[in-house]
This record gives sequence, structure tokens and C-alpha cells, in this order.
Amino acid sequence: MRADFSAWMASHQSGFEDVLRNLLPQGDIAPERLHQAMRYSVLDGGKRVRPLLAFAAGELSSADVARVNIAAAAVELIHAYSLVHDDMPCMDDDVLRRGKPTCHVQYDEATALLVGDSLQSLSFQLLSEHRLCDDPATQLAMIRLLAEASGSRGMAGGQAIDLMSVGKQLTLPELEFMHIHKTGALIRAAVLLGAQCGNASADQLQRLDRFGKCVGLAFQVVDDVLDASEDTATLGKTAGKDAEFGKPTYVSLLGLQEARKMAESLHRDALEALSGFGPEAGRLRELADFIVLRKF
Ligand code: IPE
Ligand code: IPE
Ligand code: MG
Ligand code: MG
Ligand code: MG
Repeated sequence: MRADFSAWMASHQSGFEDVLRNLLPQGDIAPERLHQAMRYSVLDGGKRVRPLLAFAAGELSSADVARVNIAAAAVELIHAYSLVHDDMPCMDDDVLRRGKPTCHVQYDEATALLVGDSLQSLSFQLLSEHRLCDDPATQLAMIRLLAEASGSRGMAGGQAIDLMSVGKQLTLPELEFMHIHKTGALIRAAVLLGAQCGNASADQLQRLDRFGKCVGLAFQVVDDVLDASEDTATLGKTAGKDAEFGKPTYVSLLGLQEARKMAESLHRDALEALSGFGPEAGRLRELADFIVLRKF
């Protein structure tokens, strides 16, 4: 990985932390415990891959960074909510997330439920409160895009399929469908929202959509691989949970080696989708590399 990319990533991660700190309700505002739990679940952790994709797509389309900050925050809040709920006993029953006790362990289950609800509402509040682009119709389309990516035709739908599939052997197309929804949809939305804050053309958006779809699926394939191949300390979440719970994953279906090959093949597809762009897509290419080569 180029030093230049690491510096770009670190500077965006730290700047974005400040953005989130300011956008989330302060912990001394009533109801204090809920607001503290929201901050606990969002701040100080996470790779911020979705925001980084939005920033990179925003750079490609010459977007105003202040606008991309809001779009990136909206996606990251939905992502954080999805993790809080994903960890609850009724879903994956996990006690560790981002190296810390999960929200329902640190607080309680009812609070974790409300943290998810509140983060989701805050996400859409931000998208409707701030100007994201010059054309109001495009802004409305952006809000709709994130709504679809989050709901039953996107992330939440994918999570439903995930839970229904425990202990079952899915076919490859069924597994792909699940992963594209539960993880791919938000990642794809992050890329498109970042680009729509700027001046991306319809043709560029189409190519970015293809890129987002490939890296989104690759991201979950790699998550499956890491669950089976890395340790808890490295991941900051309990390793080996997928096999323990009987979750269908690319590893359970194809084995570790073939799952890794699948991620590499999606990586190539993602880069191919960017082939019509020049150096302005450099950060997106580097992020695709990071998503596939990461170890956590
Ligand atoms: C974990 O996402 C859950 C999946 C969708 C696979 P990340 O690996 O992006 O988690 P953080 O945000 O870095 O903690
Ligand atoms: C979660 O997938 C996808 C979400 C929508 C949160 P996983 O259940 O595999 O995510 P981890 O491994 O717990 O982070
Ligand atoms: Mg899960
Ligand atoms: Mg999980
Ligand atoms: Mg996982």
C-alpha cells in the first residue's frame, strides 16, 4: 500500500471522527444514557470504509467536502446502527465489536434497540437538513437511494435472509443475493452518494455503480474469510462465529482458498469498472485494494 494512500486514509478518518462527534447529540443532553450509547456505538472505532468510499467518489466528481461529510455520516450512521442490531442476542449474539463490549452488553438490550432506531433517524435527518448538491431533485433521489439501500430491499432485507439461512446450505446465487443486500447495498450507496454530491455524469454514475456493487460483494466475501482465518484480537470482534452459528458464507460453501479467489476476482471486476476513468479514480482503486487485502 502506498504511503500516500495511508496518509490520505488517516487524515480522512481523523477529520471524519470530528464530523461525527459534532453531528451526534452530546452525551449530557437528555436522554443522556441513549445519547451516550449512540456516541459509544459510533465513535472511536471502525475502519470507516463506507465514508472513505464516499470521499474518494466525491474527489472524483469534484464535490464540496462539507457536503460529502454529511452524505458519508448518513451512511456510517446506518452502518453503525446495523452493527448494534446485528450484535444483539436475537441476531448474532456477539459481545465484542471494534475491540469494545457490544452496545447491548455495555448498556442493555432495550438501549441497543433504541440506539439503532435513533441512528437511523438521525441519518435521514442529516440528509434532509443539509444541502448535499445544487439540484433539489437529485438530493431527493439521494435520500431515496439510502432509504432503499437500508431497508427491506437492501441491508435489512439481507439481514433477514442471513437469519433465515442459519444451518442451511445456500446455493452460490442465493449466497450472493444475501451478501449483495446485507453488505453490498450500503457500500454501493456510499460510492454513489459521494459522487452525487459533485458533478458526476449519468454515465460515470453507472460505472461507479458497477464498481460499488463489486467492492460491496467483495467486502463481505473478505469478511467471511477473515472470520474463519484471523483471531479475535486482530478483528476486534469474536472470530469463528460464522462456523459456530452455522451461517452460510463463502467459506462454508467454497472453502477458504476458493473464497479468497472469489474476492480476488471481484477485486479485478471492481478495477475493470473504473477502467474508463483516469487518475481521478486513484483513491477508489486504492480502496478496492484495501478492501480485498485488509486483515481486519
Ligand atoms: C462489518 O463491517 C460488518 C459487515 C458489513 C461485514 P466493517 O468491517 O466495515 O466494520 P467496521 O465499521 O470497520 O467496524
Ligand atoms: C453483518 O454481517 C452485515 C450487517 C448488515 C451488519 P456479519 O454479521 O458478518 O458482520 P460481523 O462479522 O458481525 O461484523
Ligand atoms: Mg450478521
Ligand atoms: Mg455479525
Ligand atoms: Mg462477519
